[in-house]
Amino acid sequence: MTICAYVTYADFELDDERDLVPAAWREAGIEGRVERWDDPSADWSAYDAVVVRSVWDYILRREEFLAWARRVASVTKLLNPYAVLESNTDKTYLRDLGVPTVPTHWSSQGLPDWPEYVVKPSVSGGARDTTRTTDRAEAARLAKELEAAGRTPMVQPYLDMVEAEGETSLLYFNGRFSHAVRRSAMLAAGATAADNPRAQLRTPAPDQVELAEKVLTAIPHDLLYARIDLVRLPGGAPAVIELELTEPYLFLTYDPQAPARFATALRELL
Ligand SMILES: Nc1ncnc2c1ncn2[C@@H]1O[C@H](COP(=O)(O)OP(=O)(O)O)[C@@H](O)[C@H]1O
Ligand SMILES: [Mg+2]
Repeated sequence: MTICAYVTYADFELDDERDLVPAAWREAGIEGRVERWDDPSADWSAYDAVVVRSVWDYILRREEFLAWARRVASVTKLLNPYAVLESNTDKTYLRDLGVPTVPTHWSSQGLPDWPEYVVKPSVSGGARDTTRTTDRAEAARLAKELEAAGRTPMVQPYLDMVEAEGETSLLYFNGRFSHAVRRSAMLAAGATAADNPRAQLRTPAPDQVELAEKVLTAIPHDLLYARIDLVRLPGGAPAVIELELTEPYLFLTYDPQAPARFATALRELL
């Protein structure tokens, strides 16, 4: 029997997809075992594939996480592949995507004049260390603070469309569209982290599908999972805010067919 690891982290209870996924794998003839990425007793070579999922603490120790990923990739199939994880865990990849992205100023110096700013580190998740401010000097100060800590700041205009239309996340498994969701604004006044999972299934617009597929075509690797997070710029054009190829929540409970599609994609890549 084929056996694959579903890789999570110490606070695995927070991942409500960790039972659903192995159950769907079983239907596809794959046994799934939940493992913590930083469990020293795990034998990664025993798996036909090691599937990175809720490794939500890598933000705090990216080098250690990447060293782990390199080790795993040397003994078995790692999904997504190591090269993808290495580039995707630092949002500087947005510079080289070759598609429209949210305008970003990568330094604390010479900030553009925008009505409102978002300042965030290039290595982050779940809007950690991410601040919204109308004060340009405050934005510069926050960016400088990140630089002083050896991090790369990202300064962006605050896109208030995230409060009306919301962010659209498109899920692809082995390159095939599975489903899409609308996600609510995380930096809206009064929003909390608990709002994030409160998403809803959404049919993506043709221009969003076109952009998402352009992004995927540009990546020369097999991707078991890809979540492409899109917003709209003030003129209405879609733009990538984030490309989630490392540890995305997949919104699998939102579409009854999604877990089976994920399992089929894994089967294809084994
Ligand atoms: N420029 C922006 N305008 C409006 N909202 C933003 C902006 N940047 C980030 N956000 C909000 O913060 C959330 C987290 O930012 P994101 O860039 O996706 O990083 P991560 O999810 O890795 O923390 C987004 O989902 C969005 O709700
Ligand atoms: Mg995000």
